[in-house]
Amino acid sequence: MDQNGMGERIAVVSGGSSGIGKAFVAELRGRGYTVVTCARDPAKLGQLQTEYPGVECHAVDVSDAAAMRDFARKVLVAHPAIDLLVSNAGGLRQVDFTSEALQNQDLTADIRSNLDGAIHLVGGFVPGLRRSAKASIIIISSGYALAPATRAPIYSASKAALHSLSKSLRRQLAPLNITVTEVAPPAVDTPSTAHRKVPKMAARDVVAEALAAASRGVKEVYPGGARWLPLLLRIAPSWMEERVARR
Ligand SMILES: NC(=O)c1ccc[n+]([C@@H]2O[C@H](COP(=O)([O-])OP(=O)(O)OC[C@H]3O[C@@H](n4cnc5c(N)ncnc54)[C@H](OP(=O)(O)O)[C@@H]3O)[C@@H](O)[C@H]2O)c1
Repeated sequence: MDQNGMGERIAVVSGGSSGIGKAFVAELRGRGYTVVTCARDPAKLGQLQTEYPGVECHAVDVSDAAAMRDFARKVLVAHPAIDLLVSNAGGLRQVDFTSEALQNQDLTADIRSNLDGAIHLVGGFVPGLRRSAKASIIIISSGYALAPATRAPIYSASKAALHSLSKSLRRQLAPLNITVTEVAPPAVDTPSTAHRKVPKMAARDVVAEALAAASRGVKEVYPGGARWLPLLLRIAPSWMEERVARR
């Protein structure tokens, strides 16, 4: 029994209105969790609420530090103990530093959503996670955390930073009985990859692997086709980096 009473389990998922985040929402609802999520677009959140009544939706940009503090405070008043935190919100923008249009682009948007967003989320919810008898954090990084994609240098850098962040957090939070599982998927079939003609993993399969790994306290998981990535980067680093770089 936790502080939320009657064994109710609470999960907070960032970016639950689409893709992998939405698959987390569906699976966690199915498993009986009370699910809280945030994303920016209220229309997509409204659609999520229609599909999954009872999911608590908040229109918040994870890159906005003040808004995230406020979001966490509000959620923790209603749900003092958080059992599972999924840092998933994020996006990939292709950036070409050889392009003449470079100056017109928001170059650091992926850093703010993917990295700053994860930091704000974890920072805001650690007080709730420490009140749970057994708390887990899942951080969605990417295979590009280990080997970058040439077409997405800033996205890849944000995911490499998440890889490092996950390692430090794991050690810092261990004394609080909070585990940290980094999930580095390959290409996944979501709205954000609809335009890409590559083999893609189903979002629900990523979620199944992530939740199984988190429940066992596994440190890092490379779902589906990404499972050989760490080994191949050790035994044939140049060949593997070259292959990933072109994807
Ligand atoms: N799909 C893949 O192939 C793949 C592979 C490896 C890793 N990943 C990672 O998996 C995660 C989810 O990707 P996906 O493919 O499921 O993308 P998606 O379908 O575009 O969904 C992204 C979700 O995050 C939310 N979001 C994005 N930026 C946000 C922000 N600044 N503040 C709050 N919410 C934000 C989006 O809602 P709003 O736009 O309304 O805010 C949406 O709910 C990302 O971190 C991505 O890098 C994806």
